[in-house]
Amino acid sequence: MTEPARDELIHVALDAQQRAYCPYSNFPVGAAIRTASGKIYQGANVENVSYGLSICAERVAASAAVAAGDREFTAIAIVSRGGVTPCGACRQFLAEFNPTLRIVMVDSQHPDHGYQSTLDDLLPNRFDKSKIEMEKRA
Ligand code: THU
Repeated sequence: MTEPARDELIHVALDAQQRAYCPYSNFPVGAAIRTASGKIYQGANVENVSYGLSICAERVAASAAVAAGDREFTAIAIVSRGGVTPCGACRQFLAEFNPTLRIVMVDSQHPDHGYQSTLDDLLPNRFDKSKIEMEKRA
């Protein structure tokens, strides 16, 4: 990814972070996913008084892309205080669409210093379709 493309993705994730609904954790997270079509989809965490129903920014962004018919994810930027890595559930969710997805984690206080990784590195030995032998059930 070129530097301007990375900066744009971070900018869009920062924008999404503004709209996080997180009255329980007070930990706003923004995400932006770029697809092969060149489009960018936003997500922010959405919490609920029944805490377990809360959803992370990454899954909101991924679902927005899939709902738009755009499933070829190429990169995701995640913005939060401290620049956290995606949770285990989100790693698995994202791996469904691109197990080698490029991931840029950004501290919202220092948006110019992103830390880059790949889903492959963050989720080795993932559970995938090959493990459930779908053809035998057909
Ligand atoms: N959260 C995300 O949205 N993404 C992450 O990568 C880590 C955690 C959210 C879930 C919850 O709303 C809040 O941050 C605190 O865990």
